[in-house]
This record gives sequence, C-alpha cells and structure tokens, in this order.
Amino acid sequence: MPVVRLLTLLPLVLLATGCGSKQSSLRPESPPAHGIATLWWIMLGASTFGLAVIVGILVAAWFRRGSRGRDRPGTLTVIVLGIVTPILVLAALFAYSDIFLIRGTSPPPAAAATTDLSVHVVGHQFWWEVRYGGTAVTANEIHIPVRTPVVVYVHSDDVIHSFWVPELNRKIDLEPDQVNRVELYADKVGRYRGQCAEFCGLQHAHMGFYVYADPPAAFARWLARQRRPATAAPGALFMTKCSSCHAIRGTTADAHVGPDLTHVGSRTSLAALTVPNSLVRMEQWLHDPQQVKPGAQMPDLSLTRAQARALARYLESLK
Ligand code: CUA
Repeated sequence: MPVVRLLTLLPLVLLATGCGSKQSSLRPESPPAHGIATLWWIMLGASTFGLAVIVGILVAAWFRRGSRGRDRPGTLTVIVLGIVTPILVLAALFAYSDIFLIRGTSPPPAAAATTDLSVHVVGHQFWWEVRYGGTAVTANEIHIPVRTPVVVYVHSDDVIHSFWVPELNRKIDLEPDQVNRVELYADKVGRYRGQCAEFCGLQHAHMGFYVYADPPAAFARWLARQRRPATAAPGALFMTKCSSCHAIRGTTADAHVGPDLTHVGSRTSLAALTVPNSLVRMEQWLHDPQQVKPGAQMPDLSLTRAQARALARYLESLK
C-alpha cells in the first residue's frame, strides 16, 4: 500500500521539480533557444515512435508465441529493423542537430559580429564575475539590451564551469586556459535565470545568475551607473576585514579574489542567487557566510553582530 501511495505522488513530484521553475529550455525566448526546443520535441517524437515500434514487435511476438513452433525472424527483418533503420534514424537526427541547428546557435565570427557590445564572464567557485568594456564590473547578473545580440566571452578562474541560460541559448563551458563564446539574445524584456551546468564543487547548485533583458535606454542607464566609481568610501572596518579580497572602485580597495562590490547594493541577490539581497541577508552573510552557503570561499570574518550590521549598512548603500 505505501508503494502505491508513493507511486501516486510521483507525478506530483515531477511536476513540482521539473516543470515548476522558470528556467526551462522548453520556454524559449530567442531564435537559438527556439531551435533547441524544436530539436527536443523532434528527439522526443522520434524516440517515442522508436519505442512504440519495438514494444509493438514485442507484444506481437508475445501473442504469437508457440503458434508455429520454433519461429525465428528472417535475416532480412533483422538487417532492416535492427541495423539499417537505427543507423538511418540516428544519422538523420545527428545531421539535423549538429549541421543545421547547433551551428546556428554559435555566435558569428568576431569579424562578422553585428554588435559592439561584448561581455566577459569569468567563472569562480561559486560565483560569476561579469565584466563590460570600460570599467563596469559586477557579479552574478548580466544586463543586455533587448533584441540585440550580445557576445559573451567566457573562461574560468579555477575549475571547469558551464554557463547556461536555458531560455536564451545552449550551454557553453568555462575553461581555465581557453576563452569560449556564446551569444545572448532575448526576444522580450524580462529576467532569465541562468545556472552553472557542470559540477564544480560543493556549492555548484548555488552558482546561479540572472540575465536581465532591458529596454535599450534602461540598459544604457544601468551600464553608465555601473561604470561610475563607488558613491561612498569604505571605513577602517572594511579595509581591515574585506579589502584583501574585494574591490570598491574609486577607493584603495582593489583586490579581485571575490566579487567587485562597487555597486553591490544594486544587485538582486547575494552569493550567486543563494539568498535575495537585503540588509538583513547581507548582515547574516557577513556574520556567518558558511551558514548561508556552506563551502563558499568567503571565510568567517569573526565579526560581532554590531560590526556585521555596520558593514551591511555600508555595502547596501552602494547602489
Ligand atoms: Cu560552477 Cu558548477
């Protein structure tokens, strides 16, 4: 009885886990993502058809069992159904996916690029550094103008990660000794969730990011603000506890071990989408990072509650 009950729960679990989140390659919002979603449906259709044929043959064989003594399939049946058909079907699917589709999801060569805008994304355990031309540096969120192709150049600072925004394009690996490229393009203004798609350590699952597709004017304003230096200089507490790892542009804090904090108060999340960005969450994060994100590279700073609150207030003021 418990087994039956568990089985009835299974579809609910699948619904809740697989289909509920807003991060699905079956909700494409760009031309490459549409192609990938179509490929997925074609693969599903072909596999379902193949399975149906095989099950049909099995069922027919079961009904015909013993009807004519030792009844064996003819050599021709084995060759056609067992060798020729699978080769043809798999070759057709491969040709469609690799030659027609996947090549179309790659950005054009640098010379043919239709946009001046490029973004560099560096993977770290377990967060994303995002650099725009000029001085703008942020983390765990990428803004792009809507309906504009943007080439994203990616590499890794440590192990292999994989950059994936399922609604916009395919995955691309971040490697330590090679720069790879992928194009981001969004049909509609909105927020698209991305995720590291290559196991990279303890907090791999909490290595998320957002891509914001903004109207062009809003994007220009955002980028102009990110390029500016910080609005307030850090105090002695920040310089003692944080400045050996973090930068605040326009001040003497200019280390690049952890995320650039120049405009950290303007971001929507902390620790790569682990928690939303707010004064309370920032204070918790500073006070006990390992409780918020066990295995994160952010060390315990041995701050008192009052110190954590003061630092959180300062950082949240950096809009
Ligand atoms: Cu980075 Cu998984």
